[in-house]
Amino acid sequence: MGYKVAVVGATGNVGREMLNILAEREFPVDEIAALASRRSLGTEVSFGDRTLKTQDLEAFDFTGWDIALFAIGSDATKTYAPRAAKAGCVVIDNSSLYRYDPDVPLVVPEVNAEAVEGYAKKNIIANPNCSTAQMVVALKPLHDRARIKRVVVSTYQSVSGAGKEGMDELWDQTKAIYNPTEEIEPKKFQKQIAFNVIPHIDVFMEDGSTKEEWKMVAETKKIVDPAIKVTATCVRVPVFVGHAEAINLEFEDHLDEDEARDILRAAPGLMVVDKREDGGYVTPIECVGDFATFVSRIRQDSTIDNGLNIWVVSDNLRKGAALNAVQIAEALGQRCLKKG
Ligand SMILES: NC(=O)c1ccc[n+]([C@@H]2O[C@H](COP(=O)([O-])OP(=O)(O)OC[C@H]3O[C@@H](n4cnc5c(N)ncnc54)[C@H](OP(=O)(O)O)[C@@H]3O)[C@@H](O)[C@H]2O)c1
Repeated sequence: MGYKVAVVGATGNVGREMLNILAEREFPVDEIAALASRRSLGTEVSFGDRTLKTQDLEAFDFTGWDIALFAIGSDATKTYAPRAAKAGCVVIDNSSLYRYDPDVPLVVPEVNAEAVEGYAKKNIIANPNCSTAQMVVALKPLHDRARIKRVVVSTYQSVSGAGKEGMDELWDQTKAIYNPTEEIEPKKFQKQIAFNVIPHIDVFMEDGSTKEEWKMVAETKKIVDPAIKVTATCVRVPVFVGHAEAINLEFEDHLDEDEARDILRAAPGLMVVDKREDGGYVTPIECVGDFATFVSRIRQDSTIDNGLNIWVVSDNLRKGAALNAVQIAEALGQRCLKKG
């Protein structure tokens, strides 16, 4: 016997990827529902070899459904996630709404799979922000060996992290630059994104950081260790899919770059590609459609006592969202629900 699974936001970037990954990983699905807004009623989405017709979330009854994978914005999540949870369906949510709630586990299965066992307080489990998810997969095995004191991270985040509209804006602006009769004003992003980079993701906080940067700090503490200090600069770049991160780490104990490479090679969810030659590293375009988080450019930082630099790249729609959510569903199934 398998699970009755609802994918909420099935017409979006993350929702479509969730359906792909449920099929690719042969998640034990007995019944599946694709849900979105009324605007998308009847829109067809793929689930493996099958085509599903999208249903209206507002009219959907979650009674008798086991798991709902949510990938809609925070406002709509606020209305519908409690409704699903109350009906007995476990919500695995991709929005930021519940991530910092002490009664909601925030889970990256390679790091803290056991935390799913706390799901029952609200019947909700949160998925972290895309930039946090790929970073903590790489941090955790290094932290276990040498205790990370401080992280300095700069991100290079693709436009798909801003949903379908973000991808459309990069596409339309790029075309318009070659066809100057048309001008596409920035709408989703604050400045022109085509042929540009923008050091601003999400809203500004009082201290001058942005909410995206704050999320990386708060979520790393909740998932890995509250003692780790994190400072982040999050930057949007004109790449369709795949986030990259340049990460500087300071440890309590000395960690040699060769040992770090071996530790990362053996760690779950990671793939090390680190040759000190032309092209001996991974770039965003190469990670699209992959499950792994890639680590390259592993090297000592000799300007501090115990320092290391790494370059981490992953498909933000997969590890940063849909894959992580399906992995949470798998952990929930194995540890708690025990069907399938
Ligand atoms: N993209 C990423 O890398 C990423 C990573 C981590 C987390 N997330 C989070 O995941 C969520 C979805 O992101 P996305 O990139 O997939 O966005 P998207 O491509 O813009 O898709 C949004 C989806 O939400 C649905 N939706 C919006 N308002 C709705 C409503 N009131 N009722 C029902 N359905 C509604 C849309 O349905 P219609 O097509 O019918 O409008 C669509 O299916 C967001 O909370 C985002 O912050 C995204």
